[in-house]
Amino acid sequence: MSEQRDGLRLGIFMPNCSFGTSISTYKPDPDDWRIERNREIAAAAETAGFHFLFPVSRWKGFGGETNYLGTSIETMTWAASLLTTTQRIQVFSTVHVPAFNPVVAAKMGASLDHIGGGRWGINLVSGWNKGEFQMMGVEILGHADRYRRTAQFIEILKGLWTQPPGSFDYESEWYRVRGGYVSPQPIATPHPPIVNAGSSDDARETVARHCDWAFMSPPTLEANAEVAADVKRRAAAHGRAVRCVSAVYVICRDTRDAAERERERITTGIDRAAAENWCAELGLESGSFDDHTLEMIALGAGAMPIVGDPEQVADGLAALFHAGIDGALMSYPDYLADTEHLGRELVPRLRERGVLCPAP
Ligand SMILES: Cc1cc2nc3c(=O)[nH]c(=O)nc-3n(C[C@H](O)[C@H](O)[C@H](O)COP(=O)(O)O)c2cc1C
Repeated sequence: MSEQRDGLRLGIFMPNCSFGTSISTYKPDPDDWRIERNREIAAAAETAGFHFLFPVSRWKGFGGETNYLGTSIETMTWAASLLTTTQRIQVFSTVHVPAFNPVVAAKMGASLDHIGGGRWGINLVSGWNKGEFQMMGVEILGHADRYRRTAQFIEILKGLWTQPPGSFDYESEWYRVRGGYVSPQPIATPHPPIVNAGSSDDARETVARHCDWAFMSPPTLEANAEVAADVKRRAAAHGRAVRCVSAVYVICRDTRDAAERERERITTGIDRAAAENWCAELGLESGSFDDHTLEMIALGAGAMPIVGDPEQVADGLAALFHAGIDGALMSYPDYLADTEHLGRELVPRLRERGVLCPAP
């Protein structure tokens, strides 16, 4: 299937968790994960012409001074709320495959899609945080098996969402569905968009075979180009088209100096213990990092930084689009103020550059 590119989509990695996104004690806006704040930011995103809202799914925090991401709103319930207070923007939930039965997730997802009139999407993550799953008494599989189970989960979702209710059967080493029944089925056709957020070879292959979107966080423009080309090539080999979204940490201020000073304040305030716990859970050998690498990870929790005045930020995002990226999953220091600022300063510049997907 050949790829049709209709412009860069803009989304927000939303603050449904405490102390997102930088792993830093410096926070220019109130650390407010509550639903009221998320609704305000969602409304501002819709006004700004953004395309999607994306949560973080966490079940416990990462310790340190901030207990990074330690308080959070679960993302199915979070989406239900935002879908009722917005009109046009797409809202995703993030589902940990090991924590859900696929029939339950399919039922909840179809319900959310009805609540939002066809605007809901699902991000399926395979699960990596041992602390969270030990707490649940759920075993974490080896890496390749984790993704094989995720692929099966997706096949079940698709079956339940598209085949006549009561007719879907599925049997595998992890799942058994008999007469699978979900009614109502989703409004979105053929089904709500399915995203996987991973970057390994296993993740790329799962996305290429089963998903509509690949969400990822390569650290440089060159790495983004490489991963996007690889994912799209693999999808084409299966007769499919996949869009790629990259996580970016945007610091956009009226001048370059002001943006750099903001970066400096965030990195000076790094919550080192939380950042090291985060890296350790991800399986990264944080002990071998130099300070610069830890700073890069703490700044945007691994997202590629784009720092500067509105012209520089627009150039950075346009470059990502030209590198094959179809969406920017943005986080930034001051959620509400930055959403409004980017709506005024970034959106028109991306339009001028001819790279922005029309507003939903
Ligand atoms: C944009 C993005 C969002 C993610 N969101 C979550 C999340 O909410 N919860 C979670 O446990 N993992 C999340 N992950 C982690 C991935 O599911 C995955 O475990 C990680 O990227 C490592 O992937 P790999 O094992 O395929 O290399 C996210 C990753 C990316 C790139």
